[in-house]
Amino acid sequence: MTPKKIAIIGCGRVGTSLAVFLSKAGYNIAGVASRTFSSAQRTVQAILSIKGIGGNNSKEDTNNSNNITFYEDVKLCILPAEAAILGDIIFITTPDNLIQNVCFEISSNPLVNISEKTIFHCSGALSSCVLASASDKGANTGSIHPLQSFAPYTLGQNSPFVGINVSVEGSEKALIIGKELVASLGANYFTIPTKSKTLYHAAAVVASNYLVTLENCALELLKEANLSEDKAYTILEPLIQGTLNNIKTRGTIAALTGPVARGDSAIVEKHLKDIDEVLPNFSKLYRLMGEYTLKLAQKRGELEQGSIDRLSEVFNK
Ligand SMILES: NC(=O)c1ccc[n+]([C@@H]2O[C@H](COP(=O)([O-])OP(=O)(O)OC[C@H]3O[C@@H](n4cnc5c(N)ncnc54)[C@H](OP(=O)(O)O)[C@@H]3O)[C@@H](O)[C@H]2O)c1
Repeated sequence: MTPKKIAIIGCGRVGTSLAVFLSKAGYNIAGVASRTFSSAQRTVQAILSIKGIGGNNSKEDTNNSNNITFYEDVKLCILPAEAAILGDIIFITTPDNLIQNVCFEISSNPLVNISEKTIFHCSGALSSCVLASASDKGANTGSIHPLQSFAPYTLGQNSPFVGINVSVEGSEKALIIGKELVASLGANYFTIPTKSKTLYHAAAVVASNYLVTLENCALELLKEANLSEDKAYTILEPLIQGTLNNIKTRGTIAALTGPVARGDSAIVEKHLKDIDEVLPNFSKLYRLMGEYTLKLAQKRGELEQGSIDRLSEVFNK
């Protein structure tokens, strides 16, 4: 049977949301620990609240030898290893640069029966390899990365997991448990080979962060075209949404429109003349994006070689 006791180490945005919504899904959040007592306490209160136990009804019991405060069946621990002792599944939801150290701290504590544990972190950029101190001692290790931006948890909020996509990576058993956890949160899982985790994360950065940068460049150009900042986004929005919709329904190659797709080097040359003048910092990126766009346009097989050569020349001028 799949183990159901969970420990959360790192009570920030992701850790608290996991604690609350895994608890709601029927898992027992057995131990919670954070850097500060106050964060761990807020997470415990959030779990109790979702179970309808909060406020004066919660029973606190500090009469135990393990430095642990018990709130009903949720235990607030001071050290990560104390929480790890209590969970079959351990989530390390600290900032990325601390995951390896926290894992080492847990794995080297003789009271943690490490070979019986499954340990996950939630970083997109790191693979389960950062949990090697635990897997070397027989633990199942993996990463569960929600493709979602998390705000700090607020009491009563809706689940940020429902309907989102979550990558699961790691050992065979970690994959089985990870998929089950993700499904119980109402999210969709997909698996990533351990060696591909960095490229997967780079793709997410390009799709989200660099899209923001590109839209910002477009807004700057509109500002240079004398459109007020508050109007500029409103004007572009239907175009952006329509493009995203075309990518979704037709794919990137068919969704491509505009002067490069039409082979119109004269228009592109005019763009560059004005951009070089009013926004020279953007010229290099425009040329690079143009070259990539030309490669995409060529995949349609509709451009004549003469147009391809002229566009290529303009971008490399
Ligand atoms: N936020 C997102 O949108 C998002 C999305 C996908 C994945 N992730 C991943 O999720 C993980 C957590 O990110 P987050 O955004 O939730 O970070 P966060 O809000 O900054 O929370 C991190 C928590 O870790 C705790 N912490 C720091 N050092 C610790 C230690 N030595 N031992 C125990 N706890 C410690 C902090 O505790 P105190 O509060 O007590 O100081 C803090 O609450 C990261 O791997 C991140 O890459 C984040």
